[in-house]
Amino acid sequence: MVEISASLLTMNEENAVRNLYNLETAKIDYFHIDVMDGKFVEKNTEDVMKEYALTISHISNLGLDIHLMVEDVKHFLDEYLILEPQIITFHIESMKNDEQRTQNIIKEIKQSGSKVGIAISPDTSIEEIKKYLKYIHLILVMTVVPGKGGQELIPETLEKVENLKKYIDENNIDIDIEVDGGINDKTSKEAKLAGANILVVGNYLISSDNKYDAVKLLKE
Ligand code: DX5
Ligand code: ZN
Repeated sequence: MVEISASLLTMNEENAVRNLYNLETAKIDYFHIDVMDGKFVEKNTEDVMKEYALTISHISNLGLDIHLMVEDVKHFLDEYLILEPQIITFHIESMKNDEQRTQNIIKEIKQSGSKVGIAISPDTSIEEIKKYLKYIHLILVMTVVPGKGGQELIPETLEKVENLKKYIDENNIDIDIEVDGGINDKTSKEAKLAGANILVVGNYLISSDNKYDAVKLLKE
């Protein structure tokens, strides 16, 4: 069964609470929080995402799926782990090939009780993360260049999902594959076929009037 993680990046702040309510009652599985530091990517969403995450942790029982698009991962772990997110994902690119640092981050997230995810941007090969697969719970394959919502999915990224799925099946690794960027009613089908089991959906859900039907369609 595929799960849906709703990205709030393109949500209008004024309608936030109503939108959060509509998403939750539409039976999404997680709220996806896109934390951007203005360094790893151009945009800075630190304040607004902190506010959303806090609000959600107060009013909802759904899990937080935190996506850190930041350079200083450790700093943001200190901020977000206290909210007890279900999943917390950092980018392999921000680790700058430092294996010890990567293992320390994995360990810290695990010790706090959250699931650990590692994200890879479109230009990063799955070879870069193979050595970490047995220590983590989830791989987030970026299907757009990280930085903004509402972009079109890059088709080649789904080949990466396919290869990853093949690799984890062959090696008996139990791990979730999450895709993020440009997922809609059409690309969701392709992503699922490629092997993804968690779909991050932003613009398509935020802009749909009937979120319940939209989630149902995405899960089919
Ligand atoms: C992009 C973010 C995504 C994105 C998803 O940098 O990580 O979560 O906003 O939104 P859509 O579905 O609009 O591409
Ligand atoms: Zn994201």
